[in-house]
Amino acid sequence: MEDFVKIPRHVSIIMDGNGRWAKERGKDRVFGHFEGVESVRAVTEACVEWGIKYLSLFAFSEENWARPQAEVDTLMKLMGKCMEGEYEKFQKNGVRFVVLGNRDRLSDSLNTTIDRMMEATAGNSALTMILFLSYSGKWDIAQAARRMKAAGDDDIEKYLVTAGIPDPDLLIRTSGEQRLSNYMLWQCAYTEFVFTDTLWPDFRKEEFAGTIREYASRDRRFGKVK
Ligand code: FPP
Repeated sequence: MEDFVKIPRHVSIIMDGNGRWAKERGKDRVFGHFEGVESVRAVTEACVEWGIKYLSLFAFSEENWARPQAEVDTLMKLMGKCMEGEYEKFQKNGVRFVVLGNRDRLSDSLNTTIDRMMEATAGNSALTMILFLSYSGKWDIAQAARRMKAAGDDDIEKYLVTAGIPDPDLLIRTSGEQRLSNYMLWQCAYTEFVFTDTLWPDFRKEEFAGTIREYASRDRRFGKVK
């Protein structure tokens, strides 16, 4: 059992580098996504073991719709299949499964699977696993502003898709890229960032533990003086 000094409540990950991982092996990009699912499993299990309460994953951005149709189709199919396949493990480990994003753009069949999974796991409380699908930060702020205005309200956080979920304490991005790519723009105001060169399919438990140790060493002041 790992003995961390400080455990983040909410860890978020921009899972990047699947395509490059596959290319390095002379394979089609989708093999990187398949292997990336194993990393998702490893990280999820670690969160349950270490007592991290929220794990969110940027699985598909609004911008990703512009990828070749074949890759989009494979990714969408993979998501649906994985959700169904993980059902028993989610129940056994107490994982509440949530999808956030512009669900109007998802297929009816994927939306049906998502609804079923969210309803079936709604009572679980060990870990909340959030999959961001068809999500972008600017879209989120815009839709929140519209709904806030319609309600005659002025508290935008209540209308973001993440309402009720604590802001991420730690954001990890793999594959050497060091940017936010239109992810949780509002919610990451005081988030600690850790970037690693490791490609997502190679990011497993040991390296995840390293990022938690790095997080624990940071001095978070939230703009104040200590
Ligand atoms: C980024 O790598 C990865 C994605 C856009 C997809 C991530 C999705 C998965 C790992 C599948 C997750 C599935 C479930 C059910 C959680 P990239 O394709 O941008 O890689 P590149 O930067 O090397 O091209």
